[in-house]
Amino acid sequence: MEQERGGHYSYALRYAWLTSVYDPVVRWTCRETKFKSDLVRQARLAPGDRVLDLACGTGTLTVMLKKVGPGADITGLDGSEGILDIARRKVAEAGVDVTFTHALSYDMPFEDSTFDRVLSSFFFHHLDTIDKIRTLEEVRRVLVPGGELHIADWGRPPNFLFRLAFGVVQLLDGFRTTRESVAGLLPDYMGDAGFELVLETGRVLTPLGSVSLYSAVKPGMAA
Ligand SMILES: C[S@@+](CC[C@H](N)C(=O)[O-])C[C@H]1O[C@@H](n2cnc3c(N)ncnc32)[C@H](O)[C@@H]1O
Repeated sequence: MEQERGGHYSYALRYAWLTSVYDPVVRWTCRETKFKSDLVRQARLAPGDRVLDLACGTGTLTVMLKKVGPGADITGLDGSEGILDIARRKVAEAGVDVTFTHALSYDMPFEDSTFDRVLSSFFFHHLDTIDKIRTLEEVRRVLVPGGELHIADWGRPPNFLFRLAFGVVQLLDGFRTTRESVAGLLPDYMGDAGFELVLETGRVLTPLGSVSLYSAVKPGMAA
């Protein structure tokens, strides 16, 4: 599945051999702890919540979610078995209990209305337009009515300096999919996929560009 191409899948840092350096690179260049903590706080987990970390990668956010919400049921999903192995090791070291699933974001092996919350960080900028929309539709399907989506990803920069800095990310991750990030189009796609109350809730400025936090709600009454 990792070899799947055509805009359907991309490695954490473009090339498989860079996966092993992903954690230190992101920690030291992207203010990872700050924006992931903000995202977890924004999701307001409650005991018993069923929570999906979509494209969980090496599992940093997955572990944070379990530590902040020990009574929540946390699942991490990713399209790469290799990166899930790193995540499993991290979870074992942290001594927390989470479930991992190997699957692609637009074809998830979950029943309708499985999750109360879906969170995702540094993922959507890897997807082309069609995959962004079909992933968002799939997220809406697996959320309960009234369930919430919380995303942190590269967003519209506040000024020319942050736009310039983001060029480094674009050189690595490619221009085709990331162009939409700097244009701030993700909230529009969330609306197109049927979410309501779509908001950009905050922004974290990093040496490599501006990370936006978003929230959105699946229409319908919570059971
Ligand atoms: C930049 S990493 C982000 C990982 C993690 N969420 C984080 O914040 O560090 C992007 C992740 O998306 C995964 N991925 C890429 N395309 C995917 C897809 N279509 N479905 C599921 N996972 C995918 C990659 O394997 C990688 O782990």
